[in-house]
Amino acid sequence: MSKKNNQLSGPTIQPRPAMRPIHRVKGMKDIQPGNYDAWNFLLRSTFKLAEFHGFERIDTPVLESFALYERSSGRTSDIVTKEMYSFVDKSGERLALRPEATPGIVRAYIEHGWFNLPQPLKTLWYGPLFRRDKPQLGRYRQHHQLNFDIFGEAGPWAEIQLLFLIHELLQDWGIKAQIDINSLGCADCRPNYTNELVKYYKEKKHREQLCPDCRRRLLKNPLRLLDCKEPACIALAQDAPQIIDYLCGPCKEHLVKVLEFLDNLGIQYNLNSQLVRGLDYYDRTVFEVVMPSASAQRPLALGGGGRYDHLIESLGGRPTPACGFALGLERLLLNLEPHKVAASKERPDVFLAQLGEGPRLKSLRLFEELRQAGLAVHQSFTKESLKGQLAIANQLKVKYTLILGQKELLDGTILLRDMESGSQEVVDLKKIKPILLKRLTKTR
Ligand code: HAM
Repeated sequence: MSKKNNQLSGPTIQPRPAMRPIHRVKGMKDIQPGNYDAWNFLLRSTFKLAEFHGFERIDTPVLESFALYERSSGRTSDIVTKEMYSFVDKSGERLALRPEATPGIVRAYIEHGWFNLPQPLKTLWYGPLFRRDKPQLGRYRQHHQLNFDIFGEAGPWAEIQLLFLIHELLQDWGIKAQIDINSLGCADCRPNYTNELVKYYKEKKHREQLCPDCRRRLLKNPLRLLDCKEPACIALAQDAPQIIDYLCGPCKEHLVKVLEFLDNLGIQYNLNSQLVRGLDYYDRTVFEVVMPSASAQRPLALGGGGRYDHLIESLGGRPTPACGFALGLERLLLNLEPHKVAASKERPDVFLAQLGEGPRLKSLRLFEELRQAGLAVHQSFTKESLKGQLAIANQLKVKYTLILGQKELLDGTILLRDMESGSQEVVDLKKIKPILLKRLTKTR
């Protein structure tokens, strides 16, 4: 075409400048095709077990007021001081992307009067959380938790149920983790212990070895010194006074009961006097699920929780004892054996293969008919070749594949292929549903 003609036909289209791809935000993860098998494995078994144990599914919003976390997670906690994504919205309200679920759950408990429901109330919460932490393997800025909480049970039975549930879940998932337990005492006995702890760390030879963060913690939240990940602080914590020696009578009795139940159930645990948790609301029992590690460094926890008998009151509710824990999905996923996930995948009954436009349309109707009859049918209507479709059927490990081509469509028949023996038979299309139902109930 001449230049003149070209001009007549409209403006020349300029080549687009090369676009720079936009990447995901640091510390965030995508769930990619194929990843969901493992997620489903964890979630399905959790939801089923939680239902057996009488836990009710609940949910709370991703956004909450900033003040909620300041008053619950703790003004000096790492979550509030360093990790929270917070902002002031257009109406001037200070909001936060939830860094943990417990404060929101407790807010909902108070706001909707869940104390009027039969107690103890057992809840299950699942969702994403946001912490602006230093990203590394197993530590992300968006992660997902499963939270189990029991409201209105003051006795050790709450902890026992939760720890039993953790034990069952870990067994189902084939994860050989260790349960660490400690007691943080109560408002009566903890201050005596904290005084002793401060005295120990204030000794010159100890103080000099503390990391800068721990020097600050010594003034604001001395218990957290036991939780520091710096090697020098870990070494100092080994010889620090142990809270177990300072527990008052009722706190000691409560802990002993929890441990006795665990012994009775044959659930192994590790009494860890340095376990303090990073959140301010816990009293008495605290626990964490960790993978045993040969190194001195504490491994990343798979989950954690404890008793928080005063949180509801401190957020404006009526005094209600409570206990709960959360498991981190991403960390569980890192510890799953692929064969466990593969074995958990449900094997479909039938694969429906088709060849050509007419058979494809007919297959769609047949697909719906078989599905409504209760058969687990799979298809790949976007694939053209029979070879490609049979490869998918093989991958899915189906027992039978149905093949519908032009000839079968005209004859009112369909090919029924036994995937194990490779034998094929021509079947009247009208009879395929009862035939499959009969054969599959026999082979299931
Ligand atoms: P937490 O120990 O802060 O407890 O978190 C629970 C679990 O979430 C951790 O053990 C870990 O598996 C996972 N997790 C935490 N932060 C991250 C992260 N940045 N990346 C990946 N996984 C992470 C709580 O949040 C309490 N609210 C638990 C609770 C429930 N207490 C009573 N009820």
